[in-house]
Amino acid sequence: MTLLLDERRVAMLEQFGIRWQVRETALEEEAPGAAEAPPVPVFAHEAARVPVELSARATGVELMAWDVLEETVAACRACKLCGTRRNTVFGVGDRQADWLIVGEAPGEHEDIQGEPFVGQAGKLLDNMLRALSLNRREKVYIANVLKCRPPGNRNPEPDEVAQCEPFLRRQVQLLQPKIIVAMGRFAVQSLLGTTDAIGKLRGQRHSYAGVPVVVTYHPAYLLRNLPDKAKAWSDLCLARAIAQDG
Ligand code: URA
Repeated sequence: MTLLLDERRVAMLEQFGIRWQVRETALEEEAPGAAEAPPVPVFAHEAARVPVELSARATGVELMAWDVLEETVAACRACKLCGTRRNTVFGVGDRQADWLIVGEAPGEHEDIQGEPFVGQAGKLLDNMLRALSLNRREKVYIANVLKCRPPGNRNPEPDEVAQCEPFLRRQVQLLQPKIIVAMGRFAVQSLLGTTDAIGKLRGQRHSYAGVPVVVTYHPAYLLRNLPDKAKAWSDLCLARAIAQDG
């Protein structure tokens, strides 16, 4: 019986792995969250570093309805990324979603299309969602920590994360999802206010603004570290269990 279960599990994981395979070319959007690099400092939860103007702006943002919030993001000039972006990337999906997926920042394709995760990492994310019988338009909402592309896909800078944080916070308040999946170190550090490594944080239930959070690897990282897909699958199964059972 155990053998049968193990065989089934192996077959499922193999299928999962195959379904996650994407072409290894054209990975220029990989840079956001691509590497399991050393932790960066935590910004969003360091109140002392948040300037007064941001606090005032955050107060306005926290009362906004979806459409006003989206318009505010589109018009945002709070940090230097507004000077280089082609489009803001607000988020995509079901505004009554059970699942909120949080990534890092738009890459080149996202900047052009104005939608998160549309490059190679996005294809992997779509396959991960499909393995859960989910898709990006139903029961799922996808957003990033940053709404504008950092030039050349460089890492987000502290002031950029701090200026954008009220937008993601408001998206969470409006969505009230059953589960947040934080993908990659910037999402994790921004939501959880910790510099601990993903390897240490995964496999547990965390919390952001009263919503359960599960931590996992960024899809761009998984494209380069295929064996960690099995860990990501286990993280998604934990997220599904929490979403189903609370
Ligand atoms: N990586 C991210 O973190 N977000 C995107 O939207 C695309 C790539």
